[in-house]
Amino acid sequence: MSIVLAAEDIAISFGSNHVLKSVSFVLGEGEVLGVIGPNGAGKTVMLNVIAGILKPDKGRLSFRGQDIFRYSVAQRARIGIGCTFQIPRPFSHMTVYENCLVGAVFGCGLSERAAGRRVHEIFDLIGLAHKKRDFAGKLSLLDRKRLEIGMALASEPKVLLLDEVAGGLTESEVTEILKIVAHIKYSGVGIIWIEHVLQTMLHGTDRVMLLAEGENILCGPPDEVMASPEVEMVYLGVAEKAPGKRRKIALASIAPAEGNVGNHE
Ligand SMILES: Nc1ncnc2c1ncn2[C@@H]1O[C@H](COP(=O)(O)OP(=O)(O)OP(=O)(O)O)[C@@H](O)[C@H]1O
Ligand SMILES: [Mg+2]
Repeated sequence: MSIVLAAEDIAISFGSNHVLKSVSFVLGEGEVLGVIGPNGAGKTVMLNVIAGILKPDKGRLSFRGQDIFRYSVAQRARIGIGCTFQIPRPFSHMTVYENCLVGAVFGCGLSERAAGRRVHEIFDLIGLAHKKRDFAGKLSLLDRKRLEIGMALASEPKVLLLDEVAGGLTESEVTEILKIVAHIKYSGVGIIWIEHVLQTMLHGTDRVMLLAEGENILCGPPDEVMASPEVEMVYLGVAEKAPGKRRKIALASIAPAEGNVGNHE
């Protein structure tokens, strides 16, 4: 299993608000890394740092072993870092097909013909082929989420950053999103997935990382992390905050476990 993205000791502050103090992790090819943490923990900031939208104060960031710390958003998109939040909301007056085509032509620089082929591949993945002529503005929330994922896929990313794509959906709709993410994962794309929906983290990820107090304080198998006292502590604000009390299980596993990647149902 090869590492596609590595972040080391990332820190970023806004004035006196030290949002990320030291965040380190690696992401394997075809791995889904879930990210949880309370509101305001810095999860979206972290994705913005990876996408190049925000510049961290310090740290190291590499993509397939290449230092990308100084790369712009456009450079990162070109080498294969795609995200849902970075793409504008779908243009409501354009069709589903046209929205995806725009992503492939302008986001990826494909010719219109190559972009058309790419869009059809994406439709197979996201299950929107039958709605390709529908206006985006008429789509249900689930279909709009599908389309947003599709637009991010237009640039053929090797790393996909998902920020709350399951938010606001019913349980059965969340299952649809889980299937789409699993398909993307099996195509070899590494995925970082921020979500508050428990079901997605438990069933759709290979590892889960807990971000709180500016650090990734826990990272490991989804069931272990979700059942951990640290998660309870952070979400309910009940427990000890003394760093010495933190269990060490997870800091040891900022990297994916061998054999843990690529075999997730
Ligand atoms: N561009 C910015 N300028 C100044 N402060 C910012 C900026 N972006 C984020 N912040 C601050 O960083 C902190 C973390 O915000 P962030 O949006 O990353 O939280 P989050 O973990 O994604 O929360 P949520 O679960 O609610 O989406 C917040 O205090 C927020 O106000
Ligand atoms: Mg957020």
